Amino acid sequence: MNLKGKTIILGICGGIAAYKAAELTRLLKKDGADVWVVMTRNAKEFILPLTFQTLSGNPVYSEMFSTPPAPPYKWGERGAMPHIDLTKKCDILLIVPATANIIGKFANGIADDLLSTLYLSVKAPVLIAPAMNSNMYASPAVQENIKRLKGFGANFVEPESGELACGDMGEGRLAGPDKILKKVRQLLSVKKDLKGKTVLITAGPTCEPIDPVRFISNPSSGKMGYAIARAAKMRGGDVVLISGPTGIPVPSGIRFISVSSAADMRREVLKEFKNSDISIMAAAVSDFSPLRYSDKKIKKGEKKTITLELKKNPDILSEITSSIVNRQSSIVNPIVVGFALETEDMIKNAKKKLKEKNLDLIVANHVNGFGSDFNKAIIIDRKNNVEDIPLISKEELAEIILDRALRILSGKD
Ligand code: CTP
Repeated sequence: MNLKGKTIILGICGGIAAYKAAELTRLLKKDGADVWVVMTRNAKEFILPLTFQTLSGNPVYSEMFSTPPAPPYKWGERGAMPHIDLTKKCDILLIVPATANIIGKFANGIADDLLSTLYLSVKAPVLIAPAMNSNMYASPAVQENIKRLKGFGANFVEPESGELACGDMGEGRLAGPDKILKKVRQLLSVKKDLKGKTVLITAGPTCEPIDPVRFISNPSSGKMGYAIARAAKMRGGDVVLISGPTGIPVPSGIRFISVSSAADMRREVLKEFKNSDISIMAAAVSDFSPLRYSDKKIKKGEKKTITLELKKNPDILSEITSSIVNRQSSIVNPIVVGFALETEDMIKNAKKKLKEKNLDLIVANHVNGFGSDFNKAIIIDRKNNVEDIPLISKEELAEIILDRALRILSGKD
């Protein structure tokens, strides 16, 4: 694929690697893209805007309130509100090089110059290529901000290891322009096959309150469900994410419903699933909750043991599938995908759950995947086809799950 017809905003920050953005601009143009450069004030200390104006053939923006450039420029020329105007036709926002400062601003919603303001208004995918000193890159603050941005759905081209401008050796050198171009092509070739489809996803654990200060829960991180939500959004879907408490930032551009207990999750799922084309239940729902909730803190007193009586929670998955009429026909909406969390007899248990809960697909995984960024899974469909997925990232697994669900939805299976 080349980039013909694609409009790219290239944000350049103040770092020595800014000169490499000139080569990237040349490559993007050569590939057919229309490139609009936005430079931070510090970037202009390293390289002149004229370089990018010449290479891109478009005016270079830097200030929030500058006067519009003279014609013949067609797009973005209004200039009165460049942080909005520029984003309207943008297919991707690139930040090359991204400094610790811009990463920090993006991660925290600080909008104090054109590039940081523009980031908040852009709806297109974002690709960030950091470059900085290796100690800065490894600092907990920068790593935390990167994690946060990934959670929002931003894509990264990781920096490379090698000799840095300051003479240090380590990770922090800007990825090569060829590598960045490859990633741009890859992101822009993402299929929009979920356009017009609503995807409902549950994620995370549920918390079953015992008293005002205690609850029963499980260590589900929510990473799998959030990865599916981000992937479905990228593929053009309308995404509704119902999530128990997790530490993951809410992905942008989706409808997010925060819940705590299994009862809350059940109530929200029952409201939402009928409007969905695909329902994917990745949440680790507590099977039991305390029979009685004590509205006062239970005091430990002199007792050596305490007995907590639990009652079974309703099975949300079974409830939604049993409420769909004509469930036997696999092309009846919505397609319902369940998960099976197992410690043993994965295939046997997953097949049983698929049948008993009347699902279209089940994704069986081992408890070892809890909290990890990777997962090894087995996907089983109604026809008993068993697909063994090797250890891959949860992002990759999310794509596979969506592929399989969509195939059933399109009646191809
Ligand atoms: N699930 C649900 N409601 C529950 C329990 C589970 O909707 N009360 C869903 C989960 O979101 C998951 C699937 O059912 O998609 C299987 O969950 P899992 O914990 O693996 O199995 P359980 O049905 O709870 O059975 P068991 O704990 O006996 O393995």
